[in-house]
Amino acid sequence: MDPNLNRNITGTEGVCDMNKGQSTFQSVKYSMPNNLDSKSNLNYKMTNYQESKDQPIDRLIIGDHTLVRTIYDKFKMCSRKEANEWRNQLIYEIARHSVSEELILYPLMRKRIPDGEKWYQDSIQDHQKIKELLQEVQSMDPSSSDFGSKVDETMKVLLSHIDEEEIQLLPLIRKTFSEEELISAGNSFVRRKFIVPTRPHSSIPIDPPTLEGLLGLLIAPIDKFRDLFTSYPDQDKVAEMSREATSFAQNSSRSKSMWDSSQCRH
Ligand SMILES: [Fe+2]
Ligand SMILES: [Fe+2]
Repeated sequence: MDPNLNRNITGTEGVCDMNKGQSTFQSVKYSMPNNLDSKSNLNYKMTNYQESKDQPIDRLIIGDHTLVRTIYDKFKMCSRKEANEWRNQLIYEIARHSVSEELILYPLMRKRIPDGEKWYQDSIQDHQKIKELLQEVQSMDPSSSDFGSKVDETMKVLLSHIDEEEIQLLPLIRKTFSEEELISAGNSFVRRKFIVPTRPHSSIPIDPPTLEGLLGLLIAPIDKFRDLFTSYPDQDKVAEMSREATSFAQNSSRSKSMWDSSQCRH
């Protein structure tokens, strides 16, 4: 459960213990976090969906990368309280992006591009490492002295992986697949992002993707329930960043951060 949760009204908390393979439920007191605005959150999701429809998968992936870079820049420049919210948003975006890639992009790459099997093995190894680091970041108290350095360490691994995808993998994908195939994969990628887990789960096997997809379907509702009690930044602001990232990706072959870092400082 998120450390920022205030427990004031009665609810039921479900805890899934993956090691013991069982769920336990206990009566606890919740309060709806002050910044939870489900309407804004829904608006963000709908905006994201509308703008992502019928887009080739390589552009969607660059758009996601751009958004993640921008959120990381926000994280680095904002106050401690805001850093906690941006940390949560960062994890939310990376978790959904990674699993959707594993389920949609990576099987295609494995089958069709030259040296596909090597690309696949290297990529899932990177993802596994990133998930393990993200789990550590997720469990950390933002006030601890090594919190910032752990996020930086995680992002260093992630940004190197993203660079490799954008510079080498995506051009190969574009060369191998027709525009229709890229758009069809893009639509599957967008649909997947709405039903996959929103938190990193390094214990779920990535290969075979069918098993990962199945286990993800079971775990995603638990993640979404926990998201309700997690602090996130203003979702209208995230929606705006997402729109800018999408439009940037449609006009560029590479991602970059678009956040003006002079706006917010520790
Ligand atoms: Fe990836
Ligand atoms: Fe990626």
